[in-house]
Amino acid sequence: MIMNYKRNKNILVVGGAGYIGAHVNKMLHERGYSTVVFDNLINGHREFVKWGEFVLGDLKNIGQIRLCFEKYNIDAVMHLSAFAYVGESVIDPAKYYLNNVSYTLNLLEVMREYKVDKIIFSSTCAIYGMSIQIPMTETHPQSPINPYGRTKLIIEQILSDYNKAYGIKYVNLRYFNAAGADSRAEIGEWHNPETHLIPLVLDVALGRRSEVKIFGTDYHTNDGTCIRDYIHVEDLADAHILALEYLLAGNESDSMNLGIGRGYSVLEVIRTAEKITGKKIKAVEWQRREGDPPILVSSNEKIKKILNWRPKYIELEDIIKTAWVWHQKL
Ligand code: UFG
Repeated sequence: MIMNYKRNKNILVVGGAGYIGAHVNKMLHERGYSTVVFDNLINGHREFVKWGEFVLGDLKNIGQIRLCFEKYNIDAVMHLSAFAYVGESVIDPAKYYLNNVSYTLNLLEVMREYKVDKIIFSSTCAIYGMSIQIPMTETHPQSPINPYGRTKLIIEQILSDYNKAYGIKYVNLRYFNAAGADSRAEIGEWHNPETHLIPLVLDVALGRRSEVKIFGTDYHTNDGTCIRDYIHVEDLADAHILALEYLLAGNESDSMNLGIGRGYSVLEVIRTAEKITGKKIKAVEWQRREGDPPILVSSNEKIKKILNWRPKYIELEDIIKTAWVWHQKL
């Protein structure tokens, strides 16, 4: 039950200049919270932090984290800072283990020092690996098939141990595929380099790229291409705030899937984007990308029940529409 939580809390949004973090930061403000964004701007954008305080800092440097906790009276942490390119994590795992695991330990250390005992952690469906049952529930076996997924699973395990030993309460939000942009198009998806399907497809529609490659057309799916569960970034941000309020209300730590519960193939994404943009999108068949599970679709029953989360965006078309408005401005 979510009740009696207090507003006007100071929330530290680590990675708040990134795609998802910026939407979370914005929504926290809309719901009456004060925020401090801590970001090294390696992948984040300073211009995305239009709300709250901004601290240029790196989790690599524990002194910078301490300074931030010293200056601001932090009530809870949202940790969205990570490298998140599946393909890159296969090629350069050290980069992922250092950044995603080791530097998160620095953050947890400072939380312990300053007695901050609540954290919302950006986890991922990549912790499950190959799906053996669809939709995937939170009890699905955890067997990640790429280093990126393993880094996130390790942090989930660390959080479980820290909860038992030090009383740090957490909610692990296991994202499926974040997509779309702020409904006012003030912020949106902007990665450099871009590797995600929807922005790449929209780039082709705008003539910024000549074609999009379809990574694998021989999967055991309806049309042979991979299936993903695309969730709108505002629905994702909303879940973060509900999870925060769940912990502020004194509830216990938990892990929850965060997806729409519906899957779309790569070809369906391309066809939907063609419909919205009115442009022909050139797509070429390509080899499979290493580390890609064929189908990832969530069961979201748990988060709906525990947090009373209700997504606003159910149709892929509506999600891509918001991405299209933003993308034309980018
Ligand atoms: N794809 C293509 N061509 C491209 C890019 C992507 O066919 O040029 C395909 C991928 O193979 C995949 C689908 O489109 O089947 C979606 O790919 P994205 O790169 O957009 O997203 P991912 O599913 O790879 O990654 C997302 C998150 C990760 C998370 C992962 C879980 O970005 O953080 O889901 O597997 F870990």
